[in-house]
Amino acid sequence: MPLTHTRDLFAKALKGKYALGAFNVNNMELIQAIVEACEEEKAPLILQISKGARQYANPVYLKKLIEAAISLTNIPIAVHLDHGDTFELCKQCIDEGFTSVMIDASHEPFDKNVEITRRVVEYAHKHNCVVEAELGHLVGAQFDEGEAGGGFSTGGHYTHPAEAVRFVKESGCDSLAVAIGNSHGAYKFKGEQHLDLDRLKAIKNALLEAGLGDYPLVLHGASSVPAHLVAEVNKYGGKMPDARGVPESDIEVARRTGCTKVNIDTDLRIAMTAGIRKVFAEKPSEFDPRKYLGPARAMVKELVRHKVKNVLCCAGHAFD
Ligand code: G3H
Ligand code: 13P
Ligand code: ZN
Repeated sequence: MPLTHTRDLFAKALKGKYALGAFNVNNMELIQAIVEACEEEKAPLILQISKGARQYANPVYLKKLIEAAISLTNIPIAVHLDHGDTFELCKQCIDEGFTSVMIDASHEPFDKNVEITRRVVEYAHKHNCVVEAELGHLVGAQFDEGEAGGGFSTGGHYTHPAEAVRFVKESGCDSLAVAIGNSHGAYKFKGEQHLDLDRLKAIKNALLEAGLGDYPLVLHGASSVPAHLVAEVNKYGGKMPDARGVPESDIEVARRTGCTKVNIDTDLRIAMTAGIRKVFAEKPSEFDPRKYLGPARAMVKELVRHKVKNVLCCAGHAFD
């Protein structure tokens, strides 16, 4: 099956009221684990590639690995650039055939963010690609000052509903990543482990009332940092004290409130690390990479199955 367009996956997800998992990939084992899990669960899939992933693996390797995955499965798969930081990087990915790109100029003042995003949108739309942009700022727990923080928007670090409307209208972006207390990595919260879901509702409603319809929102930093996996890492010699993620119940509310794309990377990394550490600890004489990458791949697969089935609810929707 050829690459499926992100636009088509979004349209079906909005109609079916489920969320698409956007999983970050860097290597063969991650791609295999994610694709096999989604195939078994009949889930549509977005594979996303960051600038760092391109630097690590080489864009050609990633492209060929994804082509291999697509040729071996019949589930719909779209390919997305995660956190593109320049027009040039977005253009490269558009030219390579990515079905969507993210331009992340969220660290810029509002007008500059609009200007950079609009430039990417203009190029992307001429070349059959759709664009995700971000308004507000994703900060780690230690920097989260909520409304008071940052100078990025009226909402401080957080996305302001009225500004989201203005941003979407002025930039022409096709989906919007929101900042509602979410952040990347394994240490997301110092105190209460919650997203600002009321703000999410307000953003979704503001877009609807402004005539932008059932506008797709994107939730970054959606790893839940599963306690059992962190415990496994720590048990086998790791050190991840106070690792904390977004409760899966919050992700479910976010899905029902209109987060159509949900980004997960950290959980994959933790699952893979737990798998490798276990083999290293239990079989210190093992030196065949297949013997530790294989179990690690199986753990990633299990995690992804759980996500698409129980959290994102996109399982069973591959052939809608
Ligand atoms: O949001 C960032 C993603 O988790 C990708 O991370 O830039 O380390 O590849 P990376
Ligand atoms: P996590 O760090 O929570 O997995 O977020 C990943 C992400 O947002 C990728 O863009
Ligand atoms: Zn992100």
